[in-house]
Formats: sequence, C-alpha cells, structure tokens
Amino acid sequence: MPHQGILSPIARTAAAAEAAAASSATATIATPTGFRLTAHNQYNATRLDAAHLPADPFPLFRLWLHEALVPTHAQPAVREPEAMTLSTAASGIPSSRVVLLKEVDDRGFLFYTNYESRKAHELESGHAALSFYWREVSRQVSCPPHWGGYRVVPTEIEFWAGQPSRLHDRFVYTRPDTTSTWTVERRAP
Ligand SMILES: Cc1cc2nc3c(=O)[nH]c(=O)nc-3n(C[C@H](O)[C@H](O)[C@H](O)COP(=O)(O)O)c2cc1C
Repeated sequence: MPHQGILSPIARTAAAAEAAAASSATATIATPTGFRLTAHNQYNATRLDAAHLPADPFPLFRLWLHEALVPTHAQPAVREPEAMTLSTAASGIPSSRVVLLKEVDDRGFLFYTNYESRKAHELESGHAALSFYWREVSRQVSCPPHWGGYRVVPTEIEFWAGQPSRLHDRFVYTRPDTTSTWTVERRAP
C-alpha cells in the first residue's frame, strides 16, 4: 500500500524528544517487547572505487544485479533483487509502492503495470523515482528518472555501498537529459 501523509514537525531538542517518548508511552498500539527500530547495521559492501567506475551506469547496474542474483563464498544471493520501490506524485502528493523490474537495457528500467492504476496516472507527469535496496549485499541503487512509456529512463543513478561506521561509498551518475553523456561524482556518505 502506498504510504501517504502530511509532515508534522519532529522533536528537535532533548526535552522535546523526552516529551515525545513520554507521550508515545501512553500510545494505545502495543509494540512487541524488545522491538528496536534504531539498531544500526554495520554494512560491509565491496568498496566502490572511483578509478574503476564505468563511464556509463548501466553496466555497473547490470554487474550489481548479477552479483545480487549469484551467491559467492563472500556473499549470499539477494532475495528478489528485481523488487524496486517506485515513487510517483500527483499535485505534489507522493505515493510509493513496490514493482518488479522486468528488464534493464542501456536506455532504462522496464516494468509492467495496469494502465488504470494510480501509478500509471501519476506517471503521466513524466517524473518518478526508483529505488532498489539489496540488504544482503549492503547496496542501494536509486534514480529520479524521466518516464517514457513503461520504460523508466533515468537522468540520475546513485550507487550506494554500505560500509562499516557509516563511511558509505556513494557515487552518482548524472546527465542533463536522457540523450547526453553521463558524469559521475562521489557524494559524502
Ligand atoms: C513484491 C511485489 C511485487 C509487485 N510487483 C508489481 C508489478 O510488477 N507491477 C504492478 O503493477 N504492481 C506490483 N505490485 C503491486 C504494487 O506494489 C501496488 O500495490 C499495485 O500496483 C497498486 O499500485 P498503485 O495503486 O499505487 O498504482 C507488487 C507488489 C509487491 C509487494
């Protein structure tokens, strides 16, 4: 189900955080004992090295997809790596859902959906965002693409490789439009 809602300010000070914690203690919805949403993983993806990045992001995506599909002694296979979160928006109100990648080529990411669905209507805006999270290999790929038929044609693709102590590797490929060549830059973790 797509997540929706309006933003409400979050507690920014220790006192406000305490007050929020106290008020949540009276919440009527029970959470399982010991359930911790704040636990942080120590990610340990293979490092991303600027010197070895391809000029174009699609070969790198295909390599990562291949590595997600094929287990090695060093890492397990990712379950359902083709599952991707597709976000769309209408009148500034976003919605997200999971869809399955059917094909990736040098133009973009292909998936199938119902022409009458909410996402199909919202894709008429020409904008969307996609995100893959491959937990087993501490990797994420995300892109804000342009939309063409059912092929998502990106102008930005970010490769995120989780590292210990949150010193993650992030490289972002961008191009001004879908026919230009790509440039790549490192971003702070
Ligand atoms: C693992 C998984 C895979 C899915 N794959 C697709 C898909 O490929 N295409 C699709 O239209 N919906 C798929 N769905 C359902 C969508 O997430 C969504 O519920 C549905 O398409 C309606 O979305 P909308 O009303 O926001 O357009 C999938 C859901 C899950 C959980």
